Amino acid sequence: MAAKHIILLGPPGAGKGTQAKRLEEARGMVQLSTGDMLREAKSSGTEMGKRVAAVMERGELVTDEIVIGLIEEKLAQPRPERFGGFIFDGFPRTLKQADALGELMVRKGQSLHAVIEMQVDDAALVARITGRFTCGNCGAVYHDVTKPTKVEGTCDVCGGHDMKRRADDTEQALKTRLMEYYKKTSPLIGYYYAKGNLCAVDGLAEMGAVAADISKVLDRP
Ligand code: AP5
Repeated sequence: MAAKHIILLGPPGAGKGTQAKRLEEARGMVQLSTGDMLREAKSSGTEMGKRVAAVMERGELVTDEIVIGLIEEKLAQPRPERFGGFIFDGFPRTLKQADALGELMVRKGQSLHAVIEMQVDDAALVARITGRFTCGNCGAVYHDVTKPTKVEGTCDVCGGHDMKRRADDTEQALKTRLMEYYKKTSPLIGYYYAKGNLCAVDGLAEMGAVAADISKVLDRP
């Protein structure tokens, strides 16, 4: 089956990471999360990681040049044998990033299958963000109420015990993150609508129902 590349577009807490992980497992797709790449740079103490740490903690966007560079690097890496396509998660986030991605795809002779807007309302996001925790070993995403681990403190996927909460998952930082989303990222909805590859799913539905809606988009020609 031909690889299909998609963008998951939505505000913080819309469920992009949760759905990306499911798609990796179900379809052999590869998640490209600029948030994860930046957190990795931060925890490994690189110069760039140190520079972006405070920006991320406040909930602001890091510079276009940094994230475009990170994506370019990832796209140049060898692909796994079973490759279902890329899931761009949290990228692009500005019009400049969207233009850069378009150029990169053309250069590689690739195209986007769809841009999936995950529609949610702000009221649900506070509860989602403040209840989120992830496995520090494999990255599985959990929630205190909607998706707790089966055994407290133990990852269902890898059995790890290193559960983490993000420094920017506070109500204060979330306000800035939402503001950044509406100011700089939501214009991408019109951008991709005009290109003809935008579709929307109800991100407030139960996780399995959201996954089914995304699958329908991927299954269409
Ligand atoms: P990033 O890591 O990309 O964070 P984000 O976009 O704010 O998105 P989140 O990871 O918070 O949410 P999500 O949509 O993945 O939700 P999740 O699936 O975890 O970016 C972080 C920072 O890095 C940015 O603020 C910026 O500083 C920087 N950055 C990153 N990319 C950048 C870029 N391109 N340009 C510039 N700066 C960049 O779900 C959330 C919770 O809800 C979980 O607990 C989950 O279990 C639960 N949940 C999920 N789906 C459902 C459901 N359907 N029902 C009930 N609960 C659900």
